[in-house]
Amino acid sequence: MSESAVLPFHMRRTAFDPVPELAELRDTDGVRRMQTPFGELWLVTRYAEVRSVLSDPARFPIIDTPIEQSADLSAEDLARFRAGNLLAHDPPEHSRLRRMLTPEFTVRRMRRLVPRVTEIVEDRLDAMERLGPPVDLVTEFALPIPSLVICELLGVPYSDRNEFHERSSRILDLSIPLDERLALREESRDYMSTLVARARVEPGDDLLGMLVREHGDELTMEELTGIGHLLLVAGHETTSNMLALGTLALLRHPEQAELLAKEPERVEDAVEELLRWLSIVHSGTHKRAAADTELSGHTIRAGERVVCVLPAANRDPALLSGPEKLDITRESTGHVAFGHGVHHCLGAPLARMEMRAAFPALLRRFPGLRPVGEPKFRVFSIVYGLDEFKVAW
Ligand code: HEM
Repeated sequence: MSESAVLPFHMRRTAFDPVPELAELRDTDGVRRMQTPFGELWLVTRYAEVRSVLSDPARFPIIDTPIEQSADLSAEDLARFRAGNLLAHDPPEHSRLRRMLTPEFTVRRMRRLVPRVTEIVEDRLDAMERLGPPVDLVTEFALPIPSLVICELLGVPYSDRNEFHERSSRILDLSIPLDERLALREESRDYMSTLVARARVEPGDDLLGMLVREHGDELTMEELTGIGHLLLVAGHETTSNMLALGTLALLRHPEQAELLAKEPERVEDAVEELLRWLSIVHSGTHKRAAADTELSGHTIRAGERVVCVLPAANRDPALLSGPEKLDITRESTGHVAFGHGVHHCLGAPLARMEMRAAFPALLRRFPGLRPVGEPKFRVFSIVYGLDEFKVAW
């Protein structure tokens, strides 16, 4: 399948970098109306304007996603699809859902998980050693770590990982026909609703159990299912790609990998820089203009679709100098790789903690780590990353 048939211009990349036209657009105009496979979109590419759109849900509320739009769903199906999905709601509905979840993802809560995550990381490194080189870093390290963590946190059996991972990566893959992706989304929700039904009868000591115990009378079955589904997909599809692509980025910049291996205390800045430079989530969820509005000298008419391009904003020269360069010694830039505003990533403290545990441990265990052959980039996915990455040491 050709990239231009399914991928809008702002999702195309060459290895780590967004297409050069995106930088041109940002540096000349900042906001441009374009015809794309998702229909007509206003692409917002400058850091300041991206933050202003994302921080103003009254001016730029959520609109149906491209998959919902093209599937032409009935109002009832659409409501069911969106129930419990934080990304599909604006305040005050969004605030109601988010309030229930925020206490579970605080930095303090995440600190308590560090020993268990460290143990999971070491187990995966042992497994890689046992297998011996060459090993696919995606299947042996980058994917199992966040999958196991989110399974334990949520109360999802890890033994089901192959099925749910296969489903969620296909749901996010734009080269797969729409009706197949919709059917997979149904299957995935059905799977989660079985787990929710079980938790309602016997709430465990996990997040689904907590939601049932503490908020069971405020949340419908559909909402509980939607929350569980979003957390399961977001919890492993994102961090795994950051771990794989982040490792490749470090290995292709050996001086940066060496520095991090020698000075692991740099890991917090290194993780922020990798998040910024790689910006694996191509864009924020689609918004619309609530009324006719001005943005960067352009009039956006009420109802028109607006998309914030996170990789372009994160390489905006107005944000930092030398934005094209990966430099793990930079101080934090205030990047938008986790989004911004009310929908800022709920799982950011968890993702950061996992990456801070994983990168230095990997470099420490395998000082001679190197890529073998060419990695397979995830060209068609809504979340960028690697499908396969063979390494040796
Ligand atoms: C939202 C990125 C890890 C759960 C977001 C958004 C981005 C993002 C860009 C905002 C989307 C928008 O505004 O439309 C990332 C990246 C991750 C990561 C780059 C890893 C490196 C996680 C993890 C979890 C998670 C581990 C789950 C535990 C969520 C949820 C939202 C969200 C629930 C919706 C928040 C809301 O609407 O209030 N993420 N994410 N994410 N993320 Fe993450």
